[in-house]
Amino acid sequence: MMAKDFGYIDTILKKYNNPEESLIAVLQDVQGVDGYISRESVEYLTEKTGIPSSRIMGVASFYAGFRLKPVGKYRIMVCMGTACHVNGSQRIGDTVKRVLGIEEGDVTEDGLFSWEEVACLGCCSISPAMMINDTAYGNLTQEKVASIIEKIREEESK
Ligand code: FES
Repeated sequence: MMAKDFGYIDTILKKYNNPEESLIAVLQDVQGVDGYISRESVEYLTEKTGIPSSRIMGVASFYAGFRLKPVGKYRIMVCMGTACHVNGSQRIGDTVKRVLGIEEGDVTEDGLFSWEEVACLGCCSISPAMMINDTAYGNLTQEKVASIIEKIREEESK
């Protein structure tokens, strides 16, 4: 496997006079490109800045906004907020899990899908709801969830 090109991290680091003080912002930028904080990117940051990887990982795991696992091309976020919960979000999560065949937080082998449970998405009026990347889907049923995922699979296999 070819070594990954971390040129984008060099570019990010140039924006900050003191990357250690701006560590959260630096990590946000890295996640903005990669979708998560990979072990390799942390090692590269350590190499470039001298900030111990334990400190970087500490920050990345402390703040809920950082992901330490990759996301799929289609990132499914199933709302577990109160309104959705009352309206059966548990069943929605179970359906996503069954249809994709992966645990929460994982990515399908083809890299297409990942799924996770999240707090209120802000569209309670259409609960139970989920988002796939930037698109919200509401008034979900198990059938509806399965067909949304099927449709994406079909599109992708064309
Ligand atoms: S509780 Fe699910 S969108 Fe608000």
